[in-house]
Amino acid sequence: QRGLKRNILTLKDLKEEWSAMEGKRQAGIRAAGFVTDGMTVGLGTGSTVYHTILKLGEMAKEGLKLRCVSTSEATTNLAESLNLTLVPMSEVEEIDITIDGADEVDRSFCGIKGGGGALLYEKLVADISRRVIWVVDRSKLVDRLGAFPLPVEIVPFSHVQLMRKLRAMGFSPRLRMAGNCPFLTDEKNYIIDLKTGFIDDPEGLHRQLKLMPGVIETGLFIAMADTVVVGSEDGAEVLE
Ligand code: 5RP
Repeated sequence: QRGLKRNILTLKDLKEEWSAMEGKRQAGIRAAGFVTDGMTVGLGTGSTVYHTILKLGEMAKEGLKLRCVSTSEATTNLAESLNLTLVPMSEVEEIDITIDGADEVDRSFCGIKGGGGALLYEKLVADISRRVIWVVDRSKLVDRLGAFPLPVEIVPFSHVQLMRKLRAMGFSPRLRMAGNCPFLTDEKNYIIDLKTGFIDDPEGLHRQLKLMPGVIETGLFIAMADTVVVGSEDGAEVLE
C-alpha cells in the first residue's frame, strides 16, 4: 500500500510537471531567435532543445540557411526528420552558436549535463562554439550544484574497479542501466551517475574525476555557457 501511495500524483505534482513542460517549450522556442541566416549551429540533446530544433526546422522551411552539428543519434534523427542540413563534426572548424539543455545551472553558469546521456558530444560541440546557449525551465536554476546526480562517462572495461574507487571516495555511484543492460552512450561507453551531495568546488571535482583512469568525461560544464534562457509558464527570460 505504501508503494501505491508513493505513485499517486497529486494536483500539485501535475501542476509542477505542466509548468516545467511549458517552461521548456518557452525557453526552447525563444532560443531559436538567436539563430540567423548562414550560421553553423550546434544542436543539443533533450526535451527542451527539442522545441528549439522544431522551431529551426520551421525556420529552415521558410528559407533560413543553416548547417547543423548534432550531439546525439536522437538529435540527428529529429534534425533529419525536419530536413535540417547536418554536417559531421570532422568538417567543422568552428560553430557559431550551440543551443542545448542542462540538468542544473548555478548562478555563475556552471552546470550539470548528461541526464540524457549525450554529455561527451555535447561538451565537444560546446568547446568549439563561439556562443553557447542553455535552455532550461525555471526548476533547473539552483544556488549550488549537486542535487542532480552527476553523470560521468567511463570506459566499460574497468567499470567495476571505477565503481569501487568512487565508493571508497565517499560517493554513491550508480551504473546507468537501460533495462537489464548498462546504458550505452553513442560512443558505446557506460555512464555512472554519482550522488555527490552539494558541490562546493565544481572545477576541483571535475579535475579530480578526470584524473581517474577510465573516466572519459564528466557532466560538469564549467565556464561553457554564455547565455541561459529560462522558460516558465509566462514566457522566457534571457540571462547573460
Ligand atoms: C543530455 C543533456 C540534456 O541537455 C539535459 O539532460 C537536459 O535535458 P532536458 O532538456 O530533457 O531536461 O545533458 O545529455
